[in-house]
Amino acid sequence: MTLILRDKAALRTWRAGLGANTRVGFVPTMGALHDGHISLMAQAREAADVVIASIFVNPLQFGPNEDLSRYPRPIEADIAKLEVAGVDALFLPSVDDMYPPGASTFVDEEMVSLPLCGAERPGHFRGVATVVLKLFNLVQAQVAFFGQKDAQQCAVIERMVRDLDVPVEIRRGAIVREADGLALSSRNVYLSPEDRAAAPLIHQSLRAVEAAFEGGERDAAKLEQIGRNVLAQSDRIRVQYWDVRDPESLGAIASVGARGALLAVAAHLGTTRLIDNLLIGGRG
Ligand code: PAJ
Repeated sequence: MTLILRDKAALRTWRAGLGANTRVGFVPTMGALHDGHISLMAQAREAADVVIASIFVNPLQFGPNEDLSRYPRPIEADIAKLEVAGVDALFLPSVDDMYPPGASTFVDEEMVSLPLCGAERPGHFRGVATVVLKLFNLVQAQVAFFGQKDAQQCAVIERMVRDLDVPVEIRRGAIVREADGLALSSRNVYLSPEDRAAAPLIHQSLRAVEAAFEGGERDAAKLEQIGRNVLAQSDRIRVQYWDVRDPESLGAIASVGARGALLAVAAHLGTTRLIDNLLIGGRG
């Protein structure tokens, strides 16, 4: 049975009851769980004695014109999936419990959060870092799992943990995809049938650039153009960025060197914004 902890007080009581030698694994989410989330639960199950997930649609990380109010919240189905995944506890707090009136302290990471999604979504990573640090302080897990799907989010969290000496180990889980390559996302349910049919081009654009890299192309601008050209096959896809970046700093690079690169793309299909990425070369 997955124990449901509906507020911070219940979580603290549960956490205090675990033995000092209990290894706690944590998977923070915003719910609308899919196989990408569940793969992280399975990795936590492997790595820890006790697994706790959180579902909290964090208002602080949504911009004023973003999808906070329409974000899917199928809580009963989510709980059933957590049961099947063998998750021991679910932290399911309310907004008022997480953000009592007058909260005035926030976490700002000031390097890896700036480009890519940081440039397109002002305040987004401040909201993510703030809520994740709060969750880390509450849950006190030894190990926490984040998906490579949100590569920049991983980078921001890893920086925060390093820079602020947060006592938790961060592990990254691989991107889980549909059979046609589309990365699983809670936002995929928004896609019209026509947009859903076009969406696999995003992954195809990443693979085309990987193939060009393997064929010897190293020039970042040329690689980016190859990716953009694939997406230009559909007039339903509006590219926000298609960038070749340093895999760690996420800074711009002129050519792909020994460190390899992160290929990162964000695009709108209708009103839905999708992101995807691929590591090439280097250790990736
Ligand atoms: P959410 O979008 O629900 O994602 C929760 C976790 O699942 C994140 O670490 C994300 O990278 C991972 N994930 C999503 N799609 C995935 C896929 N296709 N394959 C593998 N992992 C995937 O990310 C958030 O929530 C929030 O920003 C959060 C960290 C919970 C803070 O509010």
